[in-house]
Amino acid sequence: MSRTKGEHFLSLADLDASGLAALLDATSANKASPIPIAAPLRGKTIAMIFEKPSLRTRLSFDVGMIQLGGHAVYLSPAEVGLGRRESIADVARVVSRMVDLVVLRVHAHETIEEFVRHTGVPVLNGLSDLEHPCQALADIFTMRERKGDLRRLTAAFVGDGNNVAHSFMLACALSGTRLRVATPSGYEPQARYRSVAEAAAKASGGAVEVGNDPVAAVRGADVVYTDVWTSMGQEQEYERRRRAFHGFQVNRELMTHAKPDAIVLHDLPAHRGEEITDDVIDGPQSAVFDQAENRLHAQKALLLRMLGT
Ligand code: CP
Ligand code: NVA
Repeated sequence: MSRTKGEHFLSLADLDASGLAALLDATSANKASPIPIAAPLRGKTIAMIFEKPSLRTRLSFDVGMIQLGGHAVYLSPAEVGLGRRESIADVARVVSRMVDLVVLRVHAHETIEEFVRHTGVPVLNGLSDLEHPCQALADIFTMRERKGDLRRLTAAFVGDGNNVAHSFMLACALSGTRLRVATPSGYEPQARYRSVAEAAAKASGGAVEVGNDPVAAVRGADVVYTDVWTSMGQEQEYERRRRAFHGFQVNRELMTHAKPDAIVLHDLPAHRGEEITDDVIDGPQSAVFDQAENRLHAQKALLLRMLGT
């Protein structure tokens, strides 16, 4: 796998099927031996420039760099003011002179694209309005870890056709997993993500179907995935979304339509009692906290690909 080496990782579509599979293998190896004896990223520094809050993404990059022998520097929304205190281009130029890689978490995906036009170092998407590719690596790894061969699995994504849904669609499509997405009408994944995922699924032997019926999506599924109905930055739409997503909650009743041994995924943070109930997220089918831990192992694989010698 060499497609991310020395390049950027803005979208799950920046990987091909073999690149994704190689990253998953490397993730397994990292999980088996978390602290390498040699420090492969000694002397390397990454910057994390975040416009939105984060627990998992920030912590997993920070801990991952420590475990690999390097350093991570976090720059909060209040400090940098991307495009406000200073132009995105100038921030990119300055940061590139001091660090080896930048993780960006942004409101608008275009901010990452503008940053990339002016950076001299690789850039990772740590979440934008369109994608959350680092999350998708951990999602698909967790499915493989719990359920084995991804080409034999059927997954359901129930909820908002958002950033997490986009990246998950691409990851399933590259892996040969059959995916059914169910959203309320008007909240479907963007058409361009759908067509990229459909093309990838055709090549991998998977399938991507998008509809508006959560029961149909979940029926016979091995994996049931949901995410918040109101993402960061959409808070003013909260009430409208709560009404629109009625019937799309992953609860015990919905889970009766999945396979009895189906696992439940959620990228977290969860809005408990909205998109998912306590009994499901805390129940025996939940793989949610393994999934959160796997962010660390998967991102270390990514960091080693992009920064390792
Ligand atoms: N899942 C995820 O990205 O969590 P954070 O927003 O806490 O980083
Ligand atoms: N869709 C969510 C994911 C959070 C990790 C958001 O963008 O807020």
